[in-house]
This record gives sequence, C-alpha cells and structure tokens, in this order.
Amino acid sequence: MGSNKGFMVVIFLMGIMVFITLTTHGWDFYQQTMALRSTKRQRLRKDLLRKYCKGVSQSLDDLKDTNLTNFIVDDKHGIIYCYIPKVACTNWKRMLIALNYSEPYPDPLVFEHNWVHHSERFQYLNDFPKAERKAKLNHYTKFLFVRDPFVRLISAYRDKMQNYDQYFYEGYVRVILQFYKKETNLTYNHEVAKKRGLQPSFYNFIQYILDPRTERKAPFEPHWRQMFRLCHPCLVEYDFVGHQETLQEDAQELLRILNLEDDIKFPPSYENMTSVDSVTEWFQSVPLEDRRKLFKLYEKDFQLFGYRRPSELLDD
Ligand SMILES: *[C@@H]1O[C@H](CO)[C@@H](O)[C@H](O)[C@H]1NC(C)=O
Ligand SMILES: *[C@@H]1O[C@H](CO)[C@@H](O)[C@H](O)[C@H]1NC(C)=O
Ligand SMILES: *[C@@H]1O[C@H](CO)[C@@H](O)[C@H](O)[C@H]1NC(C)=O
Ligand SMILES: *[C@@H]1O[C@H](CO)[C@@H](O)[C@H](O)[C@H]1NC(C)=O
Repeated sequence: MGSNKGFMVVIFLMGIMVFITLTTHGWDFYQQTMALRSTKRQRLRKDLLRKYCKGVSQSLDDLKDTNLTNFIVDDKHGIIYCYIPKVACTNWKRMLIALNYSEPYPDPLVFEHNWVHHSERFQYLNDFPKAERKAKLNHYTKFLFVRDPFVRLISAYRDKMQNYDQYFYEGYVRVILQFYKKETNLTYNHEVAKKRGLQPSFYNFIQYILDPRTERKAPFEPHWRQMFRLCHPCLVEYDFVGHQETLQEDAQELLRILNLEDDIKFPPSYENMTSVDSVTEWFQSVPLEDRRKLFKLYEKDFQLFGYRRPSELLDD
C-alpha cells in the first residue's frame, strides 16, 4: 500500500515538472515548430524549381538589361529582391526603404504607397556592370514572392482595369474598351472615363491578354506578365521563395534567415485581398476555350511555383 502511494506521488511530481517545462519552453517549442515547417516548405519549393528547370539551356549571361528591371539591390544587407507586381510588392519595397535607414529602423508603414513606387528610390541590378552583377547574384540573399497566377490576374484587373489612373487608362483600358467592348468616341481623360463608369469587363481583359497582337506589340505589362518572365527562377538561384498565400509566415521566416527578425517587422495584411475562393465566380464569364488558352499561357507559373491546376475551370 505504502509503496503504491509513493509511486502516485512520484507520478504527480513528474507531471508538475512536465507542465512547468512545457509552459516555459512552450513558446520556444512553437517557434521551432514553425521554423521547421517553413524550412521544409522552402526545400519543397526549391526542389520543384529544380525539377521544372531541368534542361533549361540558358544561363545568367543571357539576361540582358531589360530582363533585370525588377531586381532591387540592397548592398548594405546583401539582399536582392525580385519584385512581382500584385504580390505584396508595396510592403517589401517599404521594408527595403526602411532598412536603408540606420537602426532603429522606421516603421515601414510610414512610407506612402505612391512614394514607395517611384523607381528612383532603389538601386537595380542592371545599374551595375556585368561582373558586379554576377558577384552580387552569387553572394547576396535572393528572394521573390509569388502567387496563384489566376488570382494575380483578378487582382491586376481590379487594380488596373477598374481602378485605373491616366497611365493605365491611356495605354491599356482605352485600347481594351475600343477593341473588345467596341466603344467608340472615347475620351482621353481617365477622370472623365471614370465618371462615365467606363470599364472593361473581366472577360474583355482576358480577351486582350489572349489576343496574339498584344504580345506582338510589346511584352505584357508587368502587372500581368508571367512571373517567371519577370524573375527568371531557372536562371537565378533563389535562396527564398515566398508565397502570398502564406505571406505572414514566410515573411517571418525570411527575416529570420536575413538575421533581421528582431530589428524590423513585416506589415500585417489588411488590404482587401483577392481570395482564392472567388476565382470560380470571376471566371464564369470566360468561355471554356479561353480559360484553357489562358492556362496554357500561364502554365509555367503554375508549375514552377507549385500551384494546383484549377481543373474545375478547365475540364468539362
Ligand atoms: C529578355 O528580354 C528580351 C526582350 O524583352 C526577351 O526577348 C527575352 O526572352 C528575355 N530573356 C529571358 C531569359 O527572359
Ligand atoms: C539609401 O541611402 C543612400 C545613402 O544614404 C542613398 O543614396 C540611397 O538612395 C538610399 N536608397 C534607398 C532605397 O532609400
Ligand atoms: C463624342 O463625345 C462628346 C463628348 O463626350 C460628345 O459631345 C459628342 O457628341 C460625341 N460624338 C458622337 C459622334 O457621339
Ligand atoms: C472589400 O471588398 C468588399 C467586396 O468587394 C467591399 O464590399 C468592401 O467595402 C471592401 N472593403 C474595403 C475596406 O475596401
């Protein structure tokens, strides 16, 4: 009897010790689990790139000035960021601007959206001579953020076709309204156009993208240009591939890798983000044949970055 009681007491004490250990180390444990998960995720994403890049015969030397316009260089921290419009790029640009100050770094959110996007705020890879470019690409931490290609197109439509400024109106919206909506007598002033409620439909936008004349005239506008054409993931060996769908977790992991996790915080997501759930609704207005053509056009982005083929949109 006596020894049984003693045994219970020992078990009880051990339980208390386990409890105390868990509560004091629980947070560390949680962080370690998250870090492990992120590390594994990165490995999978990089494996995927290696798999789909196999047999690519081009090399870094094939990248001309015009192919490197989206590569922002931070010499102070040894970072190269290839930005992709519509994939958290405003906030990453804010981060890089904040990091250019001395410590303690300012809150990235103090930098205004329009101010951030002035190209002269940054140094780009194509500002440097060839040999320096190569050295930086070899030694710096290179990262990019990608997103589901169809969701990105919806986001581009909402931002640039519905909410246009003069630049997008003149160069794109007006053309699309003429060609695919058969509007005539169109104003040149985006304010007037907006007042009249002029907007291409989502299908008009897709028609424009699918029209062979579009690419013949000039490479796609960067907001809807294929991500692989902006950042060349088969030629540049990225250290980190972030996804918009896991933005906050990925941002934290990247800052950890850069040894900046204690010095700066990535802004929280607050915007009206286009969600993956509404894709089917948006694409209802697009005929099956055109959806399939569109998938072909963006297939490489789906494959390289591990996005699921949206069979519910493409199969009968
Ligand atoms: C580089 O840009 C040129 C001109 O825009 C284009 O034809 C070429 O395919 C691009 N190269 C790569 C590797 O994307
Ligand atoms: C960073 O600071 C340097 C010198 O202080 C300046 O020349 C450069 O334009 C700054 N870059 C950014 C991205 O603010
Ligand atoms: C074209 O638009 C202007 C101004 O919006 C209007 O005054 C004019 O009557 C229109 N012309 C035609 C042919 O519809
Ligand atoms: C977010 O989007 C929904 C639907 O598109 C809209 O009703 C709402 O006003 C938007 N919210 C903000 C803050 O823009």
